[in-house]
Formats: sequence, structure tokens, C-alpha cells
Amino acid sequence: MRIAITRQVSPNINQCELTHIERQPIDYDLAVAQHAAYENALRKAGCEVFSLPPEPAFPDSVFVEDAAVVFDEVAVIARPGAESRRSEIPAISEVLAAHRPMAQIVAPGELDGGDVLVIGRKVFVGLSKRTNLPGFQQLSEILRPFGYYTLPIPLEDCLHLKSAVTRVAPNLLLINGKWVDPGTFLSFVRAVEVDRDEPLAANALLVGDRVIYPASYPMTTHRLHLSGVRVEPVDVSELSKAEGGVTCCSIVFET
Ligand code: GLY
Repeated sequence: MRIAITRQVSPNINQCELTHIERQPIDYDLAVAQHAAYENALRKAGCEVFSLPPEPAFPDSVFVEDAAVVFDEVAVIARPGAESRRSEIPAISEVLAAHRPMAQIVAPGELDGGDVLVIGRKVFVGLSKRTNLPGFQQLSEILRPFGYYTLPIPLEDCLHLKSAVTRVAPNLLLINGKWVDPGTFLSFVRAVEVDRDEPLAANALLVGDRVIYPASYPMTTHRLHLSGVRVEPVDVSELSKAEGGVTCCSIVFET
């Protein structure tokens, strides 16, 4: 079975953390409708969606990806770099405990799930404003017994590693080469570059045979089609104003 954990949009999403974009008003009702459509896209891709209730006290809690990284062997509970987000963790941890052995990033480690990109046994970890070297080192120690190889990727210009690069097929990445060096990855896989006018377009969610992808990037969507990627478009305009992408809104894993 394929499971997707989600959390409904906080009524206080307008108080979300922002790092690289300017604050704009978020239409809460529209965000809720867009999130429901996103959950439906996950169902169409074969997921059983485990949708947690909204959490008014945690403005960013819709972005569940940052709370944990799930591997076949272990669920790694993160310690988000933004202090305001650390209380999001217990609810996600409780759900994952039913599915995997658990490990945890602890202080002084900081790690956001959005900084972790897994390609086979290679685990690329963004060193960002949200993920620090102790967080990277702890993740490496947790994964080493399972045969994973971790690589740190310094980041400057975007929030998370997966703002800059995501998988769109087993051996194909979608990448913004201005934010991360494509050469870091190309010995492992091929890559499609985002369109130059769509710098935020590298965040795509591969689920099964398709990619759940924002409708607002038509030029990059065209490039994905040319590469044979099946694209499932979703409108996530309001969630994007909270500096979240399509990977951020779920944790997907097989049981
Ligand atoms: N608003 C998403 C984040 O900063 O974590």
C-alpha cells in the first residue's frame, strides 16, 4: 500500500515563515480548496491519504514533508531549523511509529525534510538556513548501517534542496542549475532544466507513474512532456505564497 500523510491548512497560514519571498495575503478558503485538490491528486496516484486535522497554532503545519524523512528501513524524525515549526513534529511522529522503526535528529542538529533528496542509496542533503552540519552528520550516522551514502550540498539562494532539484522519474531530475550545480547529480542520473523564466519550477512530486506538479509553470511543464514525464497539474498558488511546494505538502511511502 502507498500512504501519503498530509495535514490540512492551518487557519493561521498567513503567519507562516518566509525566507526568500515577500509576504502576500493568502486566501485561506482557496488554499483549503487547493489542498483538497492536491490530496485528490495523491489519491489518483494510488495513495491512501492520511489527512491530519488543521492545527491553528502552527501556521506552517500543512508542509508536513519537513517533519520526517521515511526510508524503507527507518523513519527519521526531523528537527526543523525554524523554531516555530518544531511543535509540528509529535503528530507526524505518532503516525509514522505505526509503520517504521524510528530515529530522531536531536539538538544541536537541525534538519528539514525538504532538504533531503534520495536517489537510490544516495542521499543528498541541503545545508541551508534550515539544515545544519550536525543535522547532516546525525542523518548520516542513522543511515550508514543501512548502506546509504550521504552527500552535503551547500545552498544559498533557495529555501530547501528540493526547491532546487527533485526527481521526476526513477533516473531523471528536474533542476534549477542556478541554485544547485547539476554536475553534483549527473554522474547518477539525467536532468531536465527548468525554464529560465520559471526559477521556482524545480519542485515536483513523483508518485508512482506520474508527477504532481504546479499548473503555474507551463514552459517547464512542456519540457517535462518532451522528456516523457506524465504530469498531473495542480493549482497551488496560495500554498506557494507560503513558500511551500508540492513535495512539502505530503510524506509519501510504501508499506
Ligand atoms: N513557509 C514554509 C517554511 O518556511 O517552512
